Parts: sequence; structure tokens; C-alpha cells
Amino acid sequence: MSVIETDERLSPTIRSFVQKRLGLLIDGQWVESAEGGRLEVLNPATAERICDVAEGRIEDIDRAVQAAKRAFEEGPWRRMSGADRARLIWTLSDLIEAHADEFAQLEALDNGKPHLVARAADVEIAIDTFRYMAGWVTKLDGKAGSLSRQPISDANFLAVVKREPVGVVGQIIPWNFPLMMAAWKVAPALAAGCTIVLKPAEQTPLSALRLGELVQEAGFPNGVVNIVTGYGETAGAALVRHPNVAKVAFTGSTDVGKSIVEAAGQDLKKVSLELGGKSPAIVLDDADLDIAIPGAASAIFFNHGQSCTAGSRLFVHEKVYDAVVQGVSDAAKAIKLGEGLEDATEMGPLISDQQLTRVLGYVDSGLEEGATVITGGGRVRDKGYFVEPTVMVDAEPSMRMVREEIFGPVVAAIPFSDLDDVLQLANDSIFGLAAGVWTRDVSRALRVSDALQAGTVWVNTYNIVDAALPFGGYKQSGWGRELGREGFDLYLESKSICIQY
Ligand code: NAI
Ligand code: MG
Repeated sequence: MSVIETDERLSPTIRSFVQKRLGLLIDGQWVESAEGGRLEVLNPATAERICDVAEGRIEDIDRAVQAAKRAFEEGPWRRMSGADRARLIWTLSDLIEAHADEFAQLEALDNGKPHLVARAADVEIAIDTFRYMAGWVTKLDGKAGSLSRQPISDANFLAVVKREPVGVVGQIIPWNFPLMMAAWKVAPALAAGCTIVLKPAEQTPLSALRLGELVQEAGFPNGVVNIVTGYGETAGAALVRHPNVAKVAFTGSTDVGKSIVEAAGQDLKKVSLELGGKSPAIVLDDADLDIAIPGAASAIFFNHGQSCTAGSRLFVHEKVYDAVVQGVSDAAKAIKLGEGLEDATEMGPLISDQQLTRVLGYVDSGLEEGATVITGGGRVRDKGYFVEPTVMVDAEPSMRMVREEIFGPVVAAIPFSDLDDVLQLANDSIFGLAAGVWTRDVSRALRVSDALQAGTVWVNTYNIVDAALPFGGYKQSGWGRELGREGFDLYLESKSICIQY
């Protein structure tokens, strides 16, 4: 008997869910993987096994893609009215909402994040993303009009530009916001009329599988949403290479993103990428410190720093440097670490032993290069993958911990005196995902926003993501924008029809 069975913090639905024999969702059926392999799912707070799920591989990906292709070409999905498609997506959002607390528990168990945070952020944003994208379905309009010139004299022309779904899409997501990442991928693809093969992260497959159950309950036609759990190097890579996949959407590491571009380049699949970041959080000398200090702290410590937008480079004007660094340090010390299932927990464990080693390795590299830890810096508890919220100073822009993505609760504080200098430093990165600036002066806020090479700039706030706001990166932080109208467009082709009459 697993410890889960008797864990009173979990709802009965979740307890029985994780005790099911979880399979792959292919063509509307829950099936075993072809080779019969299983993948262990661990609770990062205890390093104990939660359950196992099917380990999909190349053959399973092929079955799933074939199902998605049939559903796209032959099934009722393409013939359905926009209103009916929108209604199905909305039904799915209602089902997620009806099970919102359970999803939050599942994320707490599988990913380690506090369930109250998962409920307020991950689950809420997932619901909202489905609803927002459901709204676009019936606004899928092209345009009709005339040509820019007269190609043949005395002839009339009508030009029609239609929007069509790209087809079968392969979607690969990471473990840091499992349900929310699934929603960001699945919702716009469904809205556009695509069919999907989703490959969740091997560390956190559970909420995607539960989402799959709700997809079935909502009544989507078979094969529209297929879910294949498995490893990146096998299942993920097979999905990227599959000739019947028209588009790949990926969120994860920059290295894997590059390998996906290479593989997808073989047959020139459409690719969108949300990759790493090393986002600057910039506090100007006129900032309201009552807002800037908690803002800068949450910029790095939200989601244990396991966020692509993590404000991991904290640039502070020298006039307020001591106060801000002290304030962020105090905030770090006050954070309550614990299991995600406990109400009091403010920060859970990192996702895995591998990430723990990686994050602590960056702290060590900083120390070796001359930086100083003023708060945190170590592992806590002997069970689970807990790392203390960490603030480092005496950091130089050339240090590895200032240049590379750490993906943990570790921030490097750097003082500055000149605004132009700090903007140059902030942009001195291969990444360009997000940035934050705190100032009371709207002109300076706008000047800084103009100068920053980042897909999102937050002013006097941080980490606000919204279904209506395009999200994505400059430079090596990715290709394309998810969410907003742009996120919907990622899944559409344009077809120009030119009629002579
Ligand atoms: P990863 O990029 O290896 O994994 C993300 C997803 O890609 C997972 O579903 C994985 O199975 C899949 N994948 C891995 N190799 C693949 C391949 N060759 N072909 C197709 N799919 C593949 O990230 P990982 O190893 O979990 O984390 C390493 C680092 O990546 C983190 O420390 C962090 O810096 C970064 N990362 C960034 C994320 C973001 O939100 N931008 C999310 C997760 C990780
Ligand atoms: Mg990896």
C-alpha cells in the first residue's frame, strides 16, 4: 500500500486517481505503451514514489500521431461549427474549475509547489487560458478584398484570405507549471481546430493525464487530444521527427530547443519555442521600496525560482542598494519551506535531485568566482530536494551564475549608479524573456521598457501573466509568442484564394 492511499490531505478522487494504472491517451482510449514500459513518478518533497505511468516510446508516438491525423482529416472535428468547438473548450474549462482543488493537490504532490499557490496561479490561469482561447474560435476570420494592382487589364479579381488550422501539432512541455503549460499549448491549438499529441515532462505527468480524463468527459471527438507520457530523448524526439506532425510547440531548455529546431528542420515543420531566461529586475533610486522589495523577492522566489521568467539578476541603484538587498534577504529568510500539501508552505522542494545538484552547483561556482552568500545557499532537510532561498552579492556580470540560467531560488544582486549602464548590463545576455523595473517616474519606466530586449517588461510588478498578453522571448529565449491573439495565430495557416470574374 502506498502512503498516498492514507494521506488525508488529498481528496479521495486524487487518491484513487494515482492508484489507477495510468496509460496513454490515444484515439480516445487509455492504452498501455507498446513495449509495456512504466515510468516512475516521484514526490519531490520526499523523494518517494507516488505511482507509475506508461512510458511511451517511438511506436506509441506513431500511433498517437496517426490518430491525430485521422481525427484531423476524417473526423467530425473539422466539420464542427466554431460555436460547437468553442462550447467543447468551454466545457473543458468548466470541468477543470469543478476539479480545481484536486488539480492543485496533484501539482503539489507531483511538482512540489504549494497547493494554495497552484490553486490561485497555475489552475486559475489554466482555466482562464481555455476560456480566453474559446473566445477566439468564433472570431476566426480572414479577409476579403481587392488586389493591390491590376494584373490583367479588364479583368476583375476578388481576393480571399482564409485562416486554417496547421494540422497535427506535437506539443512538449516542462515540469515547472505542468497543468498551466498544458493549457497554454492545448487551448490555442484546439481553438484553431488542430489535433494534438501532447508529451508532458517525465517528472510531472499526472495533471496532464487527469486533464486527458476531463477531455474525454467533455466529449471531444476521439483523436483530437492524444497524450503520450515518456522521456524527452525517446518520446519527445520521436514526436519532433514524425513526418505527419505539421508543427512543434516546445517549452523547456534552450539546448533542447536548439536540438528541436535542428530535427524539425529536416522537413521544415513550423516551430514555436519558449526557452530559458536570465531576467533582470531593476530597482531605480526613486522606487517605492514597499513595492519594490517584495516585488524583487517574488520575482526570484516565486515557484522556487523554477520559472523561465525568474528575476535572477537584481540590479539596484546604489542609493537604495543596501535597503533593497537587506529587504530581499529578510523576505528570503521568512519564506516557509515545506511540503506543497501543507497550507502553511510558501516554498516547496526543487523538482529533482538533478535540479538540486545543478542549482547548488551554481551557488558554488559563484562562491569560487568571488561572490558572497548573504542568505541561504544550502540544502535543507535530508529528505526531498529543498534548497534555501538564496541571496548573493559581490557578483560580477562575467560570473557563470550571473550569465547562465540557474532555475532555482538564487538571486545575484548588483549595484549600479547610471541608468544607461544598467540597461546595457541588463541586455548583456543571450536571453530576452522578461524584465522588471521599479520606479515612480512613468517617463523613466517607459524609457527603460523601450530599451530592454525582452518579450515582457513588468513595471512596479512582476510575473503577471495573462491569457490576453502575448508571452515569449527575444534572442535565445525563443521563437513566437504564446497567449493573446498571437498565441492563437501560432496554430493557423493563411490561404490566399484569388478569383477572377
Ligand atoms: P528539458 O528541456 O530537457 O525538458 C523539457 C521537456 O522537453 C520535457 O518534456 C522533456 O521530456 C522534453 N525533452 C527533453 N529532451 C528532448 C529531446 N531531445 N527532444 C524532444 N523533447 C525533449 O529541461 P530539463 O532537463 O527538465 O531542465 C533543464 C533546464 O532547462 C532547467 O534547469 C532550466 O534551466 C531549463 N528549463 C526551462 C524551462 C522553461 O520554462 N523555459 C522549463 C524546464 C526547464
Ligand atoms: Mg533535459
